[in-house]
Amino acid sequence: MALLDRAIVKLLPAVPRPVVQRLSSRYIAGPTLDDAVRVVRRLNAKGKVATVDVLGEEITNADEARAIAGQYHDALARFDEEQLDATVSVKLTALGLELDLDLCRENLEAVVVDAAARGRFVRVDMEDSSTTDRTLALYRELRGAGHTNIGVVLQAYLRRTLRDIPGLENVRICKGIYIESPEVAFRDYDAVRESFVVCLEALVAQGSYVAIATHDEYLIGEALRVVSEARLAPDRYEFQMLLGVRPDRADELVAAGHKLRVYVPYGTHWYEYSVRRLQENPKIAGYVARDVAGVVLRR
Ligand code: FDA
Repeated sequence: MALLDRAIVKLLPAVPRPVVQRLSSRYIAGPTLDDAVRVVRRLNAKGKVATVDVLGEEITNADEARAIAGQYHDALARFDEEQLDATVSVKLTALGLELDLDLCRENLEAVVVDAAARGRFVRVDMEDSSTTDRTLALYRELRGAGHTNIGVVLQAYLRRTLRDIPGLENVRICKGIYIESPEVAFRDYDAVRESFVVCLEALVAQGSYVAIATHDEYLIGEALRVVSEARLAPDRYEFQMLLGVRPDRADELVAAGHKLRVYVPYGTHWYEYSVRRLQENPKIAGYVARDVAGVVLRR
C-alpha cells in the first residue's frame, strides 16, 4: 500500500460517520431487509448466489442479540417467499457471544434449525482470535448434535489454523481481517498467502467442502490450480467475494462455470464493518480525496 493510503487508513477512525457511510456504501446493501433482497435478486440474475449478513457486532445487550437473531429468521422467510438463492452468515458476537454463551448458543441453534427447515445453510463468520476457540467449539457442538447445514470460517493469518483443520466438514477459508499480535498471526503478506494455499490444500485433501473467500488474484489462481489438480466436483467448493469488491472478476469466475457467492451485509449497525472494508481498499487515499472533492464541488 502506498504511503498516503497507509496514512489515511490510520486516520479513518477520526473520519466523521457520515463520510464513512458515504464511502462504504458500495460494500453494504443498505439498512433494511428490502435492500438486501433487492441486491440478492440482482446477483441471482447474474448467476451469483449470496450469503446475507445482518450487521450487528456492536450490540451491547441480550435484547439486541435476540433482535439480530429475529432479523435472521425474517431474512430466511423472505428468501423463501422471494425464491432467492441465498444463505446466511452470522457473527457470534452479534448473537450474544460476549454477553452470555448460553444465549448465543440458543440464538444460533434457532437460526440453524429454521434454516435447515427451509433447506438453507448457516455460515458462522470468524472474528478476532479471542473468539476462535469458542466459535469452533459451538460449530463442533452443533455439528455433533446433527446439524449438517452449518459451516465455519478459518483465517489463514492465524498460526494455529493448520492445526484447527482436522475434522472440520465445511469451511470458508479467508486471509483474516482483525488486528492480531505477531505471536498469534502471520503479519507478512506473502506468509499469509502461503498459509492460505497450505490450508486450502489440507482442507481439500481431507474432503471438506471449501468456500474460497478472496479477491487476491494470486490466490484465485492458486485455488483454481488446487481445485483442478484434485478434480473437485463443482458441488464440493465455491468461490466467495464481498459485495462491492471485484464484481467483474466474480462475473468471469461464474462464466467459467464456478459457483460464486457474494457476501451481502445489511442493517443499521454498519460502522465497524465499513471501516474494515475501507481499510482494505488499496486505493483508499484516492477514494477519500474523490469524496471530499465531490462534496466541495457540490457546494
Ligand atoms: P487483499 O486484501 O490482498 O485484496 C486483494 C485485492 O482485492 C486488492 O488488491 C484489491 O484489488 C481488492 N480488494 C480487497 N479488498 C478491497 C476493498 N475493500 N475495496 C476495494 N478493493 C479491495 N475475514 C475474517 O476475519 N473473518 C471472516 O469471517 C471473513 N469472512 C469473509 C467472507 C468473504 C466472502 C470474504 C471475501 C472475505 C471475508 N473476510 C473475513 C475478509 C478476509 O479475511 C480479507 O480481509 C479480505 O477478503 C481481503 O483479503 P483478500 O484475500 O481479498 O486479499
